Amino acid sequence: MKSLSILGSTGSIGTNVLKIVEMFPDKFQVRVLAAKNNIDMLAEQIRAFSPDFAVVFDEKSALKLKNNISGSGVEILFGHDGYRSAASHPPVDMVIAAMVGSAGLIPVLAAIDAGKSIALANKETLVMAGEIVMKKAGEKGIKILPIDSEHSAIFQCLSGHRREDMHKIFLTASGGPFLNLPLNEFDRIRPEDAMNHPTWQMGRKVSIDSATLMNKGLEVMEAGHLFGVSLEDIEVIIHPQSVIHSMVSYKDGSVIAQMGIPDMKGAIAYAISYPERLPIGQPLPDFEKIGAFTFQKPDYKKFPCLALAYNAGKTGGTLPAVLNAANEVAVEAFLNRRISFRDIPEVVEKTMGRHFVIAYPELSDILKADTWARRIAEEQVG
Ligand SMILES: NC(=O)c1ccc[n+]([C@@H]2O[C@H](COP(=O)([O-])OP(=O)(O)OC[C@H]3O[C@@H](n4cnc5c(N)ncnc54)[C@H](OP(=O)(O)O)[C@@H]3O)[C@@H](O)[C@H]2O)c1
Repeated sequence: MKSLSILGSTGSIGTNVLKIVEMFPDKFQVRVLAAKNNIDMLAEQIRAFSPDFAVVFDEKSALKLKNNISGSGVEILFGHDGYRSAASHPPVDMVIAAMVGSAGLIPVLAAIDAGKSIALANKETLVMAGEIVMKKAGEKGIKILPIDSEHSAIFQCLSGHRREDMHKIFLTASGGPFLNLPLNEFDRIRPEDAMNHPTWQMGRKVSIDSATLMNKGLEVMEAGHLFGVSLEDIEVIIHPQSVIHSMVSYKDGSVIAQMGIPDMKGAIAYAISYPERLPIGQPLPDFEKIGAFTFQKPDYKKFPCLALAYNAGKTGGTLPAVLNAANEVAVEAFLNRRISFRDIPEVVEKTMGRHFVIAYPELSDILKADTWARRIAEEQVG
């Protein structure tokens, strides 16, 4: 029986984790649930899974939740201390990092400090502070198992092979909803168009990141840190069918791919039950119906966020945290119709352009860069 703490339990990843937990009550037990302020869903989850405690963002949400679940005996915590407790609760074996954005970083570090194994969906954690996180995890002997489907695929393609035989990683991308939209029509893109992903069902922020290809850029950095690979050896390739979740090539010309239908439950189940594979009832890809797999190079002119992310990742230091923070501000502004789709890369680029990079940052430098970049990006949004 594995005890879980699920950070971001009300999100797209979090709810899929709970679906798997429900399928295997003899294998998993939920000890902690944490979200931001979706009180109604969290209350339902508390009633269904009876955790030791639950955590929300602020005191107001905590009071509301307490009223909602009164009589359940489940303690409610809030704020940074609450998330830290969620990440380090002694009975927990594995922490699922499924919060969105920079909010994931401090709880993941707390989980590593507490010696928990980690199933990581929150790519922003590694983008912001990959060196610090991986070093700490290495020192503690902690395994970080990827939930991102591409990283789960790479992890599987690397298994059983010698790292020194690896040639490169092909990180696949669906291309998002605007793969075939001409650049001169990008000015008309509305949030609801960008949310409408052709192959994956995801949360708001990651859906917009997928539409700009920033998501792929963040994933390149995530893969670099997780697998200790230089970004020069990670190539993004567009594969609109989203069946090949990524590939690894070797010195002898072999290419190993991992495939499955585009549904996060496969990667989630593998991360939380590794090395066991669970019978989650996932159908196989219908190869005859799919007919053909296609591949193409990404169009950096249409999707400048991908180039910005490669640039930030190759420069390193505090620049990836600045890119990440500026992107979070820009995506939120786009969702609130304050800026256009094409303004997103502009806000990110201008913010990056004003930053003096600290090459070997401490955690405090990264957090300062994050705060600074949010202020500068807000200025760009106007
Ligand atoms: N969705 C996917 O298919 C997918 C695939 C691969 C990787 N990922 C990564 O997984 C992470 C989660 O994505 P998602 O799509 O599941 O996001 P989502 O649906 O937006 O859910 C985000 C979760 O985080 C919580 N949250 C948001 N802001 C928070 C804050 N400041 N402090 C604490 N909790 C906060 C939310 O709580 P409330 O509901 O209360 O707001 C919710 O539980 C992201 O890093 C994403 O890039 C997602």
